[in-house]
Amino acid sequence: MKHLLSIKDLTQQQLQDLLALAKTIKANPAEYCHALAGKSVVMLFEKPSLRTRVSFDIGIHKLGGHCLYLDQQNGELGKRESVADFAANLSCWADAIVARTYSHTTIEQLAQHGSVPVINALSDLYHPCQALADFLTLSEQFEDVSRVKLAYVGDGNNVTHSLMYCAAILGASMTVICPAGHFPDGYVVAEVQALAKRYGGQLVLTADIDAIAGHDAIYTDTWISMGDPTSLADIKAKFAPYQVNQALMAKAGAEFFMHCLPAHRGVEVTDEVMDGTGSLILQQAENRMHAQNAVLVTLLS
Ligand code: CP
Ligand code: NVA
Repeated sequence: MKHLLSIKDLTQQQLQDLLALAKTIKANPAEYCHALAGKSVVMLFEKPSLRTRVSFDIGIHKLGGHCLYLDQQNGELGKRESVADFAANLSCWADAIVARTYSHTTIEQLAQHGSVPVINALSDLYHPCQALADFLTLSEQFEDVSRVKLAYVGDGNNVTHSLMYCAAILGASMTVICPAGHFPDGYVVAEVQALAKRYGGQLVLTADIDAIAGHDAIYTDTWISMGDPTSLADIKAKFAPYQVNQALMAKAGAEFFMHCLPAHRGVEVTDEVMDGTGSLILQQAENRMHAQNAVLVTLLS
């Protein structure tokens, strides 16, 4: 494993090892407090972030490493100099690059032209660190994560893509329920179907909200992702049946609710579900740090 650009690049063994290491680091933080001693990580963000930025910064500190946050205040990435030159220069000083970019191509360019590991902290296509944290969270609730039945409801987006790859590679079942025209990318679906077949997982895609019945956990995300120019007014009516509320949770028979956050309360999810007893949102947020630390330790030590 040289980078973490997408979950799809991982074998089942690598994915299972990352989840196991995340649990070990979470349970024994003192044993890893020097794991990144002498290492510096650059965090390059084109988009806003709370969880990703803070969990990487504090996580790197807990591993004994140092991180440097670069935002876009000194100019847009690729404008003052090429992404290739930027990556080559960062690689002179940094031991790894964590990047959140609009285009996934930018992350691929950083990996191609830099000489240090690159970790995708969200792009238009994928959010691998989120999916790792989410399956870490599920594996804390279910002894055998391959038996979990996860349903994702709402916009088929970067988070959906990474969850789909993760579920398929782990051999779990996932149902993706989206309004027509808002399904995940076709080539991702095709790749995930092939992976699910290989690893014994199951992927169902449908616009039928009644397909929600019989799942263990219901996951949703914002209906409009960062960088998407869609206006809420234009899609609200179409998405309304896909709101995760108490009635939908009851219909699903699901014990758990998940959301990567930030959430738009009263839009894709109601307060009662966000704050309900089955809500895993803060466990997911906490697990971002442990999952990412497992990635950092794997890539850098
Ligand atoms: N879930 C997540 O990535 O949150 P941020 O956008 O706040 O980093
Ligand atoms: N799909 C959302 C995830 C935010 C963490 C976005 O890309 O904005």
